[in-house]
Amino acid sequence: MSEKYSKLQKQFLCCYPVKKMAWSSVKLPLNWEEQQELIEATCGHPMNLRYPVRRSYLEAFLKQLMQLLKDQEDLHDDIYSSLCARMAESPGTSYAYKHYLLTPDAHITLRESKSFVSEGTTGLCTWEAALALGDYLLHHRDLIRGKNIVELGAGTGLLGILFKLPALKLDVGEVLLTDGSEPCVQLMRENIALNFPDAPKEQIPQAEQLSWNEVSEFPWESRKEVDVLLAADVIYDDTQFTALLGALDFFIKRRGDALETYVASTVRNMDTLNKFMTQLELRGYKVTPCGNISASASHFCRDHTAAVQIVLIRR
Ligand SMILES: C[S@@+](CC[C@H](N)C(=O)[O-])C[C@H]1O[C@@H](n2cnc3c(N)ncnc32)[C@H](O)[C@@H]1O
Repeated sequence: MSEKYSKLQKQFLCCYPVKKMAWSSVKLPLNWEEQQELIEATCGHPMNLRYPVRRSYLEAFLKQLMQLLKDQEDLHDDIYSSLCARMAESPGTSYAYKHYLLTPDAHITLRESKSFVSEGTTGLCTWEAALALGDYLLHHRDLIRGKNIVELGAGTGLLGILFKLPALKLDVGEVLLTDGSEPCVQLMRENIALNFPDAPKEQIPQAEQLSWNEVSEFPWESRKEVDVLLAADVIYDDTQFTALLGALDFFIKRRGDALETYVASTVRNMDTLNKFMTQLELRGYKVTPCGNISASASHFCRDHTAAVQIVLIRR
């Protein structure tokens, strides 16, 4: 496949907002072969054929493409047939797939809910903060090399899957993804199996149910000491602050200064974030802001409209 539509392909497969896609890479008019190439790079991509993106996204993408090609005499049959094929399907389940192409030989496929909130949790789809934290740690690999990692509120499991991709050679230690929501843990396990179909258990992330107010009851003695604690997009509900801070206290008490905690938060409500940061400082934690990875250096196609704040928390 040519590189001509690689940006559009990457964006399409992870459902990047249609209006913001790299349409300028499409040089009009497109002859028949070029149209075919574009379709094969996107809707006709083998990953999408096997694990399709959500139907509403595909429709929006094809409509935008038709609009772009509206002055052309010949529209490739595959554009119509891709649209009609999906329109004819039943709406299907409330889940669909996203594919993150990271390097030529590393990608992640995630099954996600089509809704931001479902089954009583916000964790069945991947949030911007997880992508931003993944980007940050990919650019600062030494922070996780050889480290045993635990993630709190891990949702779909993106970060743990990322760290264990063999092609990225991140050489992390044990990775435990946790979430308080049972449907999230089931989904994480499904996503782990999807991305590591044949790998032995020691080489893949593990997923377990863990509520923040029950961390002390978890069988930690059967696990390696935690070096790095992660959490993405978990600071939005101040009724959960006490439980989250209690969980942090628990890990710090076990590991002391050796523990590094990275928390990434999409900045929606600055007051809520500040309230959490103040509580951290009152408990004697040192909070250091970490830089963000720019859109051009990002491994993920992120819609950088929402700011994400990443901080390192230490005793
Ligand atoms: C907005 S989602 C973020 C998911 C994922 N980290 C991401 O960024 O895509 C928040 C996650 O925190 C989990 N969560 C919220 N309160 C929790 C608690 N008290 N104990 C454990 N997990 C909790 C939710 O189930 C959900 O998966």
